[in-house]
Amino acid sequence: MTERLTIPRPDDWHLHLRDGAMLEAVLPETARHFARAIVMPNLVPPVVTGADARAYRDRILAALPEGADFTPLMTLYLTEQTDPEDVARAAASGLVTAVKLYPAGATTNSASGVRDFDKVRPVLEKMAEIGLPLCVHGEVTDAEIDIFDREAVFIDRVLDPIRRATPGLRVVMEHITTADGVDYVKSQDRDMGGTITTHHLIINRNHILAGGIRPHYYCLPVAKRETHRLALRAAVTGGDARFFLGTDSAPHVDAAKETGCGCAGCFTATNTMSLLAHVFEEEGALDRLEGFAARHGPAFYGLPVNEATLTLEKQADPVRFPEKIESGDGPVTVFDPGFPVHWRVAQ
Ligand code: DOR
Ligand code: ZN
Repeated sequence: MTERLTIPRPDDWHLHLRDGAMLEAVLPETARHFARAIVMPNLVPPVVTGADARAYRDRILAALPEGADFTPLMTLYLTEQTDPEDVARAAASGLVTAVKLYPAGATTNSASGVRDFDKVRPVLEKMAEIGLPLCVHGEVTDAEIDIFDREAVFIDRVLDPIRRATPGLRVVMEHITTADGVDYVKSQDRDMGGTITTHHLIINRNHILAGGIRPHYYCLPVAKRETHRLALRAAVTGGDARFFLGTDSAPHVDAAKETGCGCAGCFTATNTMSLLAHVFEEEGALDRLEGFAARHGPAFYGLPVNEATLTLEKQADPVRFPEKIESGDGPVTVFDPGFPVHWRVAQ
């Protein structure tokens, strides 16, 4: 039995840090284990311009705990008004690492997202030209499409047409939740990557709905049936470099989750690395965790693998994670996998 595993310090290729009091509360949770993270731009108002991204990056850096070794990788929120030249300038200066596409209305704070994909063609073409990746929330928003089908339909109706119309555009299909998403990424060349969250490797839709409704398991894209969860596990343990970790850790205060119409998001920043060690060990693939969490992402983004390391240790007693973290806005519940976890980060 492996009791100890040392890997290069991991990165999180999809993270929500929010702003203000919430940023202060959640940033240390990620900075403790991760060297870099792609920071989502869905603030209110969203991070749309290079100037917005610079100001947000400054707020993140100011909120970092003393001595933390963490670099936020900024993204711009794509709107129908986005100026290709502003995007190109922000990329050239090293300020932004990717642009985020939210179909309008798909999820939390996505109202300013894209309705008419023709309107963003000039931006996508500029991005293909300069090699700036597009991170995609892959769900259609049409009310008549069943929520469990929205990812699969998005591939046919939106993602594949964008790929065909924009050769050379580097695309990340984020937080894949279906076998369809896995298969699509695999069918593409090296210009395409897919991120997978920790929680989608652990829960299926029964966890959310059977035996009582569990708001802390509700996120978007919503967890699908068991066959899809197993396809995600096969993808992350298969060693394919197109798949890498994007936790989509998305904090909401309990009051916003435990209510008649709760927000989408699972907060996993605190215990993600322990949970991943558990999952990969369960799959007999602990040796593949390094690729998924620390190597494939940098390879896709053309960045160096982190030189510092992170060590995971297996202990006899279950690790005790905080049930909640406190923020100035209220408590945030930490994702509970529902089983004992024996891996802890030793640093
Ligand atoms: O569950 C989610 N929460 N999915 C998203 O796409 C957005 C995120 C959030 O910002 O809370
Ligand atoms: Zn997200």
